[in-house]
Amino acid sequence: MNKLGAAITGVSGYVPDYVLTNAELEKMVDTNDEWIRTRTGISERRILKGEGLGTAYLGTKAVESLLEKTNTSPDEIDGLICATVTPEMFFPSTANVICENVGIKGAMSFDMAAACSGFLYALETGNNFIKAGGMKKVIVIGADKMSSIIDYTDRNTCILFGDGAGAVLLEPSEDDYTIKDAILRSDGVGRDFIVIKGGGSAYPPTHETLDKGYHTFYQDGRSVFKYAVTSMADVAAEIMERNNLQGKDVAYLVPHQANLRIIEATAKRMEVEMDKVTVNISKYGNTTAATIPLCLWEWEKKFKKGDNIILAAFGGGFTWGSVYFKWAY
Ligand code: UT7
Repeated sequence: MNKLGAAITGVSGYVPDYVLTNAELEKMVDTNDEWIRTRTGISERRILKGEGLGTAYLGTKAVESLLEKTNTSPDEIDGLICATVTPEMFFPSTANVICENVGIKGAMSFDMAAACSGFLYALETGNNFIKAGGMKKVIVIGADKMSSIIDYTDRNTCILFGDGAGAVLLEPSEDDYTIKDAILRSDGVGRDFIVIKGGGSAYPPTHETLDKGYHTFYQDGRSVFKYAVTSMADVAAEIMERNNLQGKDVAYLVPHQANLRIIEATAKRMEVEMDKVTVNISKYGNTTAATIPLCLWEWEKKFKKGDNIILAAFGGGFTWGSVYFKWAY
């Protein structure tokens, strides 16, 4: 009998209807479709419209459909973790609000902030709650309403991001089709390269912080690119090596969707052909914590039981990591 592990037994997702195209962005800032597509791989992204609708709305939609498709009742859920850097509000947590929206009562729920690596951090946390033996059904969400923190006059960043949410269900399993390994890393050297400076305890909102632009997303893209392109490839290669996997053994690489060039570099380093890499950046852009679960959702039907799947991400913090699991259904 194998040790107790956590299996992903369901996945779902949600993207809002509104499509923000490169052509529309051309009318808002000094940019062009050709530059955006060749430098990033993005053609369009989804934006959540509607007053008072935040990240909990996106997460709620994803969880509602996850519960429905896995035939799970809200009162069976023991825990719900929401990875996000665009929480509904400071507190209560987005996870608390999602639980209330979908009728999950009395379960452990909390948010995790690890930027674009957030889903990997939350997945490994959920994995450990299951492996510890106390929980039978844990939902892990990656959800971000990036449009709420983007300055749509800044061409360096406004072309990159979109809104969305993805969610998986984790359940205990003693067979082989479980989460096998995770490497999670961080280095605060990134604190000035991707940041929203204001709104927290260091720079609470004032007229001055607003005027200085402290409340919107800032990224030094070129510096982040250099760290991302090596760190994501290195960590994916490391997880393969310590699990004796070669490129041919990997059924799918599911990478964070920040830039097609970073994805291609990671695949090359892993010796995984691009037809084994999930890529949907062209239609959703970078949805931060949601990119990986949205890919899992979109590729779900192609995955086969026992497939070796590797997740890899890099993001603000810096944070980065890789998770290896065998698909369970
Ligand atoms: O998900 C979290 C982690 N984030 C990442 O992994 C993102 C990593 N970084 C990147 O993906 C890339 O750095 C970007 C896509 C953000 C930018 O691409 P780049 O090739 O690094 O461009 P750059 O910032 O070096 O800018 C090149 C040029 C500049 O003009 P000059 O100085 O060469 O005259 C920019 O001003 O492109 C210009 N530029 C633009 N031109 C048209 C920057 N943004 C735009 C734009 N449209 N939207």
